[in-house]
Amino acid sequence: MRIAILKERHAGETRVAATPETVRKFVGGGHEVRVEKGAGLTAAIPDDAFADAGAAMGTAAATLKGADALFAVRMPDEATLARLKGMLLVAHLEPHGNRERAEALAKAGIDALAMEFVPRITRAQAMDALSSQANLAGYRGVIEAAQIYGRAFPMMMTAAGTVAPAKAFVMGAGVAGLQAIATARRLGAVVSATDVRPAAKEQVASLGAKFVAVEDEEFREAETAGGYAKEMSSEYQAKQAELIASHIAKQDIVVTTALIPGRPAPKLVTKAMVETMRPGSVIVDLAAPNGGNCELTRADEIVEHNGVKIAGYANLPGRLAADSSALYAKNLANLLPLLVGEDGAKAPHWDDEVIQGMALTRDGAVVHPSLTKEDA
Ligand code: NAI
Repeated sequence: MRIAILKERHAGETRVAATPETVRKFVGGGHEVRVEKGAGLTAAIPDDAFADAGAAMGTAAATLKGADALFAVRMPDEATLARLKGMLLVAHLEPHGNRERAEALAKAGIDALAMEFVPRITRAQAMDALSSQANLAGYRGVIEAAQIYGRAFPMMMTAAGTVAPAKAFVMGAGVAGLQAIATARRLGAVVSATDVRPAAKEQVASLGAKFVAVEDEEFREAETAGGYAKEMSSEYQAKQAELIASHIAKQDIVVTTALIPGRPAPKLVTKAMVETMRPGSVIVDLAAPNGGNCELTRADEIVEHNGVKIAGYANLPGRLAADSSALYAKNLANLLPLLVGEDGAKAPHWDDEVIQGMALTRDGAVVHPSLTKEDA
């Protein structure tokens, strides 16, 4: 298969969909890889490193010419899409409920596989980009909080006096949240966390953090078969808000990561709650790209309200581009065997559960069940 890797066109995207390691693997497996010049620069990968691994370097047009597949981090821009007819596109495509986008991809004659739809089954874990990127986002979110916070995280006893440890509260204890808990603990904060999935309780405790949640009947049933959270009832959200309000007033750092696939991020931190926090406190909202968990979050801005800073970085994995690219590229490399036949030619395994889960379009038609249903 001929695989193309382009420099990402999305504003502020620093990641790249391949690394010298994955290029070497593809080339070693008999595939041909073309990489656009400069594609890896923002992820600390010089062109020479790609070339040494066996990639042919060239312009975007040369990279796409005759390619069977484009591996990308994000949805390509219009100009690129127009050149992908007949190709396989594998990328984050923001597919949830986005029928218009799927139709555009189908119309352009592109067979599109969305990385967001990799099923959460054990076999697909190594291909799960949401997890690989969320893990790094959780880490980086806490590092950003520590950088913005004008006080120390750990307790320090000095001759001049004692510095109290920071109190950090992580909202949403999924992949990103658990890494945020671990990172805040490593930095010396006193950490608590909340989630609506009962499975999270034990995981939070195992990382040495305190679990804070309304544990009623609805909570006990709040996990889908796919391991994701359900949208909670307004009654539950009201009870949750009350509990969170009293807890948040005592926190120095709040890291929010709560998401429900395909829905806007739940609003968990209101303006009134922010106003109870002491000046100097920091909120890092990892849900910023999905509308934010905090009412005051603005994507890609640090908003200051009554001395509380609310950071809404929309692309935290992109702030660790070398590592996030390496893990994402590995996710794609692990997916490759499902995209080719025994002879190495392009032949997606359309009947495989993983490919079925990811396939948005095929042969000019939208095929994902969530996007073909009337009510989608
Ligand atoms: P996510 O990114 O969709 O959501 C983040 C977290 O927010 C979740 O833990 C969710 O329960 C929580 N949340 C949603 N609404 C909330 C609310 N109102 N209040 C507080 N928290 C709320 O989820 P993520 O991190 O992608 O995955 C969730 C879980 O899925 C993981 O912890 C893991 O157990 C499972 N998983 C399974 C995999 C597999 O089997 N292959 C791979 C990755 C994750």
